[in-house]
Amino acid sequence: MDLHILDHRLRVTSISKSGLVHFTHPLIKLIFLRNRTRCKFFSLTETPENYTVVLDEEGFKELKPSEHLQVESSIWLGLNVVSNGNASSSSQAVGVTKIAKSVIAPLAQQHVSVFMLSTYQTDFILVREKDLSVVINTLEEEFNIYREVGGESFPVHCQDVSNGLQKNGKEAIQPTVHPVLIPQNQFCVMSLDPDTLPSIATTLIDVLFYSSSPKDDAPSSTGQDLDCIKFFSFSLIDGYISLVMDTEAQRQFPADLLFTSSSGELWRMVRIGGQPLGFDECGIVAQISQPLADSDISAYYISTFSFDHALVPEEDIMSVTDMLQHQRKEPAT
Ligand code: ARG
Repeated sequence: MDLHILDHRLRVTSISKSGLVHFTHPLIKLIFLRNRTRCKFFSLTETPENYTVVLDEEGFKELKPSEHLQVESSIWLGLNVVSNGNASSSSQAVGVTKIAKSVIAPLAQQHVSVFMLSTYQTDFILVREKDLSVVINTLEEEFNIYREVGGESFPVHCQDVSNGLQKNGKEAIQPTVHPVLIPQNQFCVMSLDPDTLPSIATTLIDVLFYSSSPKDDAPSSTGQDLDCIKFFSFSLIDGYISLVMDTEAQRQFPADLLFTSSSGELWRMVRIGGQPLGFDECGIVAQISQPLADSDISAYYISTFSFDHALVPEEDIMSVTDMLQHQRKEPAT
């Protein structure tokens, strides 16, 4: 298996709900006007608490400092696992489940904090740039590691890495078990040919920028009423679009342009965290993805500025709920 360290130097930011109006101009440019920006990595996720924007330095330049913009201070790098055909795994599962044991668990063991961004196409594991040497040392047994530079991949070896790793890990710490929330909405994970982006532009603008202004007499369905949660994610990364939305938002889009994998499966969400999770704690993704991997349940995993979100197939939500409840009673050792 190959692991690619992507070229993008990423910032993780959040725009407050009330501050969105100050950022519509740069966001429209980043989403729709690809020729006007050199941004190659852009992701925007609306949650009830804020808008999380993850983007490369070119994109970040477009966001003017403001009281409405919070910026995590680190530079993050994206890692991406590429299976090169001879995958020995018998697992049919997709998403974070596939990399739970090989990437997520070992990094958590080395106390490396990650930030996950699953998309329709792939799963990005973001790590802090300053942790890169530990990351490489931890993962080089399992992977051929490549660093992408200007579209080319160069193999990385441990001797390229200045400082070594605390081999054998540090003492195992008891991970904090965070409360979870399981909203009622059903989600779909979709994609779109970037050339057809203009044909969904008005809908996307409506959903992204005006979703909290109810249309005339339509009943309000924007808050967290009826145990549903507001969650909408759009990403445009290296030319690939990925969308995560609930079935209510999906109904607003023309049916023929967005596509989803095979059977158009639906997903349920597990939101992790009661208080905002911050960026320094490690092992949160590991704690959720490990049991999913043990049961071979697919999962997308999207970290946002405040909380983490796992999406599991709707038919598995009961067993996942049981699993997490069990974990809460007897935290794994
Ligand atoms: N750093 C956590 C981990 O290593 C995941 C991210 C949680 N933080 C957040 N703001 N979403 O498992």
